[in-house]
Amino acid sequence: MLTRGLLGFLFAIFCIETAWASVATLVFWTSPPDNDRAVWAKEGYEVVTLECVATDAACAKQKLDALSSANKVYLVAGKESSAAVAKLYSDGLTSDRLSGVALMRAALPDTLEVAAAANAPKLSVFVEKSDAAIEVVAARKYVSAFRRQGVQSALKFFDPQMMSTTPVHPGIVMAISHFMGYAPPSELLMKLLTANELWPNLGHNNRAFLEQTDFLQSKPLSDTVRDHLKTHFRQGPHVGNQWAFETYVAFDLIAYRDAVAPGKRYVSLSTRLGQFMAFDLDQYAPYEPEIVVSVDDEDNMFQLAWYYWNTLMYSWESAVPNISAKPLGPVLVFGKPVPEELQLPYRQRTALHLKGISFSDEDPLAKMKAYPPRIQTVITRANECIYCHSIEGIGGQNYHLNAYTAQPQGGMALPLEQYSDEVLREFLFNQEAVAAKVGLSPNPVDADYIQEFYGWVTTLKNKE
Ligand code: HEC
Repeated sequence: MLTRGLLGFLFAIFCIETAWASVATLVFWTSPPDNDRAVWAKEGYEVVTLECVATDAACAKQKLDALSSANKVYLVAGKESSAAVAKLYSDGLTSDRLSGVALMRAALPDTLEVAAAANAPKLSVFVEKSDAAIEVVAARKYVSAFRRQGVQSALKFFDPQMMSTTPVHPGIVMAISHFMGYAPPSELLMKLLTANELWPNLGHNNRAFLEQTDFLQSKPLSDTVRDHLKTHFRQGPHVGNQWAFETYVAFDLIAYRDAVAPGKRYVSLSTRLGQFMAFDLDQYAPYEPEIVVSVDDEDNMFQLAWYYWNTLMYSWESAVPNISAKPLGPVLVFGKPVPEELQLPYRQRTALHLKGISFSDEDPLAKMKAYPPRIQTVITRANECIYCHSIEGIGGQNYHLNAYTAQPQGGMALPLEQYSDEVLREFLFNQEAVAAKVGLSPNPVDADYIQEFYGWVTTLKNKE
C-alpha cells in the first residue's frame, strides 16, 4: 500500500478551547495589535511587550533580564529580529530565563553566526506554505544553523494568509500554545507539530556515506535529478521548498563496488524503511548509478522529510500508529537516462544507508525471475510488492517510521504468504475499502491480473 497525502495544517477541524491555556508569559518583541493582545489574554496568557527596535538585541536582552515573572516566558519575534535573535542566543541565552523563541519568518543575514549555551531555549521558525521558495530556504538555513549548535529547532508551516490575519488566527494561537506546551497533546494537529519539532532533531543521519570521501563528488543538479528528488514532495511541494536543489554530493556506486567487492555483479539495497531492492550492476553501470548523499548545504538527507498518519496499523487490529515521518534520505539516482524497460521503482530506493548496501555474485532476485511473467509484472513493475513485502523469503519488510522516535512502527509489510485468505482477498478485491480503513492511498492490482495473482499467492501459502 502507499502512504496517503501530506498532512496539511488542518486548523479548520479544531475548535479553540481556552481550557488548556495556563500561566505562561508571552513576550512580544514589538507590540501586537490590541485585538491580538486581547485574544492571547483571553486564552489565559500574560502578554508583555519588549518595546525594543526590532533589530536591537541589546535592548531586548536588557528588558528580558529585567523581566520578573513567575511563569515560563516565551518570546515571539518577527523576521526583522532574526539577526538580533541570533545575537541573543550568542550572548548566552538560557532556558532558565527564556523557555522558547517563536520567530515569524526568518531573514538570513549575510553571515549568520550563532553560538548557543548548552541549555539554550528551543526555537521554532514559522513560515506560510505559500511563501516564496527563497524565503523558505532562508528560514530553513536559519533553523539549521541553530540546530548545528545543538539548539532544538524546527521549521513549521502555516496555511496561506494566516500570519497576516488580525485578530490573530486561531491556528496560530494553537501552534504557539503547542510550542509553549499548553495544547492538548492528543489532537492530531498537535501530534503533527510535535513531529515537526522532534524528528529533525533525532532522525537518522548519513554521516557514514559522507566519510567515504574517495567515492564522493560534488556536482550541479541536473533538471532530471532535481525533478526526481522533488517527487518526494509531490504531496506537499511547500515542504520541498526548504531546499534550493542546486548542487548535490554523489556517492559513486560502481567505484565503491570496485573498491570493496571487485567483480561482484549484483547489488542489494536494504533501506531504513525496511525496503529491499537488488539489481545487476553490470547492466546498470552505463547509466551511472549514484547515491545522492547531500543536497546544497544539507548534509543529512533524512532532514528532507514530511509527516503523515495512518488510521490503523492493520485492518484486522484496532492499534493506531503514531505520526510517521517519510524521509527522502540518501537516494539512488542515475547520471544518464535509464531506458523505460529498465526503470527501477523510486520510493524503494530512498532512505538508503551504507550498511544496507551489499554485493553478490548471484542475483538475489533469481528465484523471482522463475515466476510467471505476469506475476513478475505485478510484484515488480506494476505494484512493486516485492520491494516492500517478502515472497518466499525474498524481498522487503517495509514499515512506517515513528516521527517521535525515528524507530520502526507498524503496520509492517508482512511476508505475503502470511496474510490470511480473508485479508488477502479484501486487499485484492476490495482495495479501496481496505486502503480507506487503514488510511492509505490504494495500490490496486490491475483487474486483468487479480485472479491469477490471487491464485498464485494462495498456492504459495499452501506450499508452507
Ligand atoms: C511501498 C511499499 C509497499 C508496496 C509496494 C506494497 N505494500 Fe502491502 N503493505 C505495505 C505496508 C507498510 C503494509 C502494512 C500496513 C500498512 O501500512 O498499510 C502493507 C499492508 C498490506 C496488506 C495488509 C493490509 C491490511 O489489511 O491491513 C496486504 C494484504 C498487502 N500489503 C499486500 C500487498 C500486495 C499484494 C502488494 C503488491 C500487489 C503490496 N502489498 C504492495 C507496504 C507495501
